[in-house]
Order: sequence, then C-alpha cells, then structure tokens
Amino acid sequence: MSDKAGLLQAIEGGIRAYCDAHHDFSFHPEAPVVRLHEPTNGADEIFAAVQVLLDTFVTQGPKVKAFEQHYANAYGCRHGVMNNSGSSANLLAVAALANPATPDGLRAGDEVIVPALSWSTTVWPIIQCGLVPVVVDIDPVTLNIDPEQIERAIGPRTRAVMPVHVYGNPCDMDALVELCRRRDLILIEDSCESMGAFYDGKAVGSFGRVGTFSLYYSHHISTLEGGICVTSDAELADLMRILRSHGWIREVENRQPYLDANPDIDPKFLFVNVGYNLRATEMQAAIGLAQLPKLPGFVDRRRATAAFWQKELAQYGDVLAMQGETPKARSSWFGIPVTLKPGAPFGVADLRRHFSARGIENRPIIAGNIAAQPAMKYYAHRVVGDLPHAGHVMKAAFSFGNHQAIDDGALAHVAEAFRSFMATI
Ligand SMILES: Cc1ncc(COP(=O)(O)O)c(C=O)c1O
Repeated sequence: MSDKAGLLQAIEGGIRAYCDAHHDFSFHPEAPVVRLHEPTNGADEIFAAVQVLLDTFVTQGPKVKAFEQHYANAYGCRHGVMNNSGSSANLLAVAALANPATPDGLRAGDEVIVPALSWSTTVWPIIQCGLVPVVVDIDPVTLNIDPEQIERAIGPRTRAVMPVHVYGNPCDMDALVELCRRRDLILIEDSCESMGAFYDGKAVGSFGRVGTFSLYYSHHISTLEGGICVTSDAELADLMRILRSHGWIREVENRQPYLDANPDIDPKFLFVNVGYNLRATEMQAAIGLAQLPKLPGFVDRRRATAAFWQKELAQYGDVLAMQGETPKARSSWFGIPVTLKPGAPFGVADLRRHFSARGIENRPIIAGNIAAQPAMKYYAHRVVGDLPHAGHVMKAAFSFGNHQAIDDGALAHVAEAFRSFMATI
C-alpha cells in the first residue's frame, strides 16, 4: 500500500489496534489504583495528531481557528483565542485588559479581587501585569468566592474581580454579575477547571468580559497542554491575538486600520503592541477538535459519579462535607472535594494516608489559601479579613479523582476505604 489514503488507513488501524490492546483504564482489584485522572485522549486524538505531523503543517493555523470557533459557538461566546495553557489564558486575558490599547481597561496599581482559594496562575498574571491582587474569603459550602466579601473588599483602586469556579462548581453568577455592574468592575472568569459547567443554562466563562479555560492533561478535555480565552468583545479578542503572537497582526480579524496606519511596514512583520509567544499548535487543535464532541458525555459521567458520592458520604455527614452546588449551578465536577468538619476526631493527613496506602491518589484543593503561599510576600497585595474558610480548606480538605474512566470497581474501592477509615475512629 503506497497511496496516501491507504497508508492513512493502515496507520489509523494500527493506532486503534494499539489503543484497544493497551489502553485499559478500568479498575483492577488485584492491583488497585484510582488515579486523579486518566487520559481522555485515545485513538481518535492520536490519529488526528499523527495526521497533522504527516501533513507537516504543524504551527498555529486553520485547525486552531476551527477549534476556537467550535468552542466559542458551542459555549456561548463570539470569539475564542486558543493558547498553550490555562495559565497563558489567564495571562493573556489580564494582559489584554491591562494593555494601554484597552482604553477602559486596568492601569498599574489597580486592584483585582480574587478568591483566597485559587490557583497560583489565577493570581500571578495580576501581579505580572503590575496590578494588585486583593484576596477575599470563600463560601464554605460552594468553596467559591463569597460575594459579600467582595463588597467588603472594594476600595478606591478596585477595578476588577477574577473569580474561580472551583472544581467546576459555578460561582453565584447572578450575584457577581449584578455586583460588577453596580460597582463598575470588570469581571474576568477563571474557568480553567470548569469546562462543561453551566449556571442557569449559560456556560461558565461567558458571563464576564473574558473567560479562560485550561486544556491540560488532567482536565475535562485535553490538548496535552493548552488553553483558550473566550469573549464576545471583538476588540479584546483581536488584542489577545496580537499579544499571543509577538505583538504582530497576522491573526487579527480587523486588520485594515493597522494596515492603513502603517503603509510602509511589511504587514507580515508589523508589530503593533508588546506581545508574547503563547500560541498553540495545529496538533493540539486537532486533538481538541476530536475531544470537543466528547465533553458533554464526560461531564455527564462526572456528574453521575458526584451524585454517587453525595449519597455515599451522607452517612459521614457529622465529620465530612462535600462541596455543594447552588440551585442554578450545574457543576462539571473536576474532582470530589471533601472538607473535614470542625471537631472531626482525625486529621486530613490521616485520611489521605489511608487512601494513598490503598492506591487512591489524592491531593489538596487547588493551591489552598493563596495568601498563605510564600510567593505572595514579595509582591504588593491586600488580604481582607482572616480568610477562615479558605484557611480551613487548606488545612482540612482534600480531593480524589472524578473522571470519565471511574467505574463501579473504582467507586466500590474508594467507598470501602472510607468505611475502613471510619471504623478506626
Ligand atoms: C483555577 C485554575 N486556573 C488556572 C490553571 C492553570 O491551567 P494550566 O495548568 O493549563 O496552566 C488551573 C490549572 O489547573 C486552574 O485550576
């Protein structure tokens, strides 16, 4: 076989045969392991990636554009700007809003309110762009930013709020949107761990001026590493395209004004702003295009597993609390976050050790209380109150895996680990 179609068929067949034989992510009681995540990428994605490599057009191009359009159309925004990580998506979003080309944007020294329970690169881009993070506490049930604490934190330099939908659990968007409108604050949604989550029927990430998502390996769908910013603001989208790629205008949709203003500079090498290189590749986009149609099924699976844990853990309700959704929230359950109730007669380390000894991977909830992380001491920031709830999550909460490959055997194994631990206390 030497014709292109025949060779591709043989390659695809080989990939599918390999995956069928060697990709088994089901639970095996004789070697019990329940991982925080198992790959979402299989034969479809591997074949899509290989095809890009064989085509030799690998750098950002039409597949990245197609992924951006598919994602934005399916999840309620006009524009998507794909990039190389969720951290880069946060950087791009904040950098575009803080750029002098955004007239109503953020300026050096302006404050951005963030939840104490956040990821490092929720907060770092704020600092990197010369802004000042203001850290406020969370709601102990949803684990999301507490709107009342935001209200309390607003000062004369406060210009934006950057909530995190923690573990896929949508924040109270009615309250946040109303508050941002009333207090004239820019809303930037860090939805990096919340793909596939909805609030009142609307996708998270589509409520604010800009939303960000991660496509990292362990997320709902993955392009290995990757991220995407979404917005319905055409100018902001174009600016993010400029900042993503060296500060040039090649991927900009509304290019004519730049061309008219700079007739003597080669349009392919016309640098209109100070940018980065945060681009994704065609291979990542091809994987993403194969993953996108699978997202709703993966989320349904995660929701069914979360429902199992809500029932199962109810019997330990005097000592354990699972993260809770508000009535309009449809979480995409990035994991199963569990908090020890105050007064529980054991420490979270005891329970985590018990899990680890049984092959059940576990971890703290994102970065814990970000104000307690040592990096913060180098940079100007403001902390509002004592952050008791985020502090408690950092000391007394953990999570274990909830993903598309969790099966009944894995559920039974983890349930048994809870039972055997509770029998010791
Ligand atoms: C809330 C939040 N923001 C940002 C990120 C960064 O995403 P990435 O790992 O793709 O850089 C993560 C990663 O999990 C996250 O959970």
